[in-house]
Amino acid sequence: MFRFEQIKGNEFELPTKVVHGIGVTKELGKRIKELGVEKPLIVTDEGVKNAGLLEKIEEPLKEAGISYAVFDGVVADPCINTVAKGTSCYKEEGCDSLIGLGGGSSMDTAKAIGVEVVHDEPVLEYEAAEGKKPLQYRVPPFVTIPTTAGTGSEVTMWAVIKDPAREFKFNTGGPLIAAYTAIVDPELHVSMPPHVTAGTGMDALCHAIECYTCHYAQPHTDAVALLAIEYAGKYLRRAVGNGQDIEARYGMAISANLAGISYGSESAGAVHAMTQTLGGIVSVPHGSAVAATLAPSMEYNWIGDPYKFARIAQALGVDTFNMSLEDAARASVDAVYELTEDIDAPTLTDLGVDEGMLSRLAKEAYHDPQTIGNPRDIDIKGYEEIYRKCF
Ligand SMILES: [Fe+2]
Repeated sequence: MFRFEQIKGNEFELPTKVVHGIGVTKELGKRIKELGVEKPLIVTDEGVKNAGLLEKIEEPLKEAGISYAVFDGVVADPCINTVAKGTSCYKEEGCDSLIGLGGGSSMDTAKAIGVEVVHDEPVLEYEAAEGKKPLQYRVPPFVTIPTTAGTGSEVTMWAVIKDPAREFKFNTGGPLIAAYTAIVDPELHVSMPPHVTAGTGMDALCHAIECYTCHYAQPHTDAVALLAIEYAGKYLRRAVGNGQDIEARYGMAISANLAGISYGSESAGAVHAMTQTLGGIVSVPHGSAVAATLAPSMEYNWIGDPYKFARIAQALGVDTFNMSLEDAARASVDAVYELTEDIDAPTLTDLGVDEGMLSRLAKEAYHDPQTIGNPRDIDIKGYEEIYRKCF
């Protein structure tokens, strides 16, 4: 059941305090004071502001008499220039801490600003790649508040930032980049439209599935990943079907959070290799791209670890009693195809991706660092086979 590389020596760290529940955003003032800081920079985007969610976190700050500044210049797939603007804003405003409010783009931008502020160098110098530097210093006190239930970025130790010159999304991270406190409040999620709930929810499910089955999996990450999968199976349809269903919103918020914890300090597999390279080239919502590629990737991958894929089927509520191990593993693939259909997730064609790009996409996915963790050995042909099913 264990691979040698999993038990030869490993570590699991969770540097983030998680505050969760309906309405916990109201405690923001107290949580900032706990960190002993005076002026946070709120890093967010226009969409979050227009949805009235910025106001919801400004209120508790004002009540607690905490001054703050706002950088609302985050865009989807944030690039190094967005980060640089945020860093200038942090310095000009004399801030001493960060609040990342939004989806993965806002929280990751906040993390990257944190990296630039403490290292006094562009985040690009700290790309997780050969020839680049590892992080040396902890980011400043930092609170994450997700407004979607998807990326789990509130607790992950990674930020994904785009380098436009290479049309490439790179990772930076490690325990030094993690938030100090994450505030997970389902009340901030009820205004998400169904297609955003669907895409971000599939991203959460995918993080859990990829972390559970990848070569870096550990017992600690497996434990949280399985419950993340179970909650997504139980609550995603309800959250998409009825945005006001607060129990389903809480279930999905926790699913995404547990899936984020299951990231550990290592990253995922084929789906994230494919969607991250795709996102570097074409502007598509990350969650929707994940939803289009997850089931086809599982169809390719399950023979790499049938036992774990059978456990995924069980977590998704499939009765595997009397099934062979292989049938149970295949049932996990069917269950995810069904879920994808039930929530009306788009294909890559629907997302406007040109099928003519297939061979470039396959090649770039193969060279993405996340390929190495994939549960089944994969080459460029393997990626082409998966991509073909996503259009
Ligand atoms: Fe993701």
